[in-house]
Amino acid sequence: MDEGFTLWFTGLSGAGKSTIANLLVERLREIGRHVELLDGDEIRKNLSSGLGFSKADRDANIRRIAFVAKLLSRNGVIAITAAISPYKEIRDEAREEITNGGRNPNRFVEVYIATPLEVCEQRDVKGLYKKARAGEIEHFTGISDPYEPPEHPEITVSTVGETPEQDVDQILGRLAEMGLLPAQPAGVYSEDEEALVSERLKNLGYL
Ligand code: ADX
Repeated sequence: MDEGFTLWFTGLSGAGKSTIANLLVERLREIGRHVELLDGDEIRKNLSSGLGFSKADRDANIRRIAFVAKLLSRNGVIAITAAISPYKEIRDEAREEITNGGRNPNRFVEVYIATPLEVCEQRDVKGLYKKARAGEIEHFTGISDPYEPPEHPEITVSTVGETPEQDVDQILGRLAEMGLLPAQPAGVYSEDEEALVSERLKNLGYL
């Protein structure tokens, strides 16, 4: 059985967590891995329906996500969580739980989607920053509620000036360096990249 682990995404609303996570799911499935995405918005519709955005409710939400991610990742699945998870302490608690008190340190990979607030607010994909600025949403992360960036994330993705595909490549590269994925997983090239590689091999007379 492949080793499972959790990719714990954290970052502001609109940072790109879901976009990057969805692409990553596809790429990992292409190399034959079992993957589950625990997306913040999705989880709040089912597992955490009824919870709001007070610290207590966010902590409860994160604890539920961590619990499910633990079950998955100890059974060979790659669990990708994509919730803001703004509080450092509770992310550290998730790490403790998922790594089984540090006995399986590789089972938790914190991925900081480090898009700056100004950029998230400028994009305002869901129109929520505007509402938060207008005082229509209380306790909005980054505006009227805290976001504590990770101090030592295993992976940091800047997203600014990069495409989501490039961000995914960067994450896959880091996971390979960490020994969590094969060094050159088959099929991780995009179609364009594959065409380029065969072109080069042809020019070199190998094909
Ligand atoms: S977390 O803090 O508990 O990790 P989660 O990722 O599940 O948050 O949910 C965040 C999403 O809920 C945001 O992307 C946004 O769409 C929505 N949302 C609604 N109200 C708030 C709020 N006050 N703060 C942050 N996000 C909010």
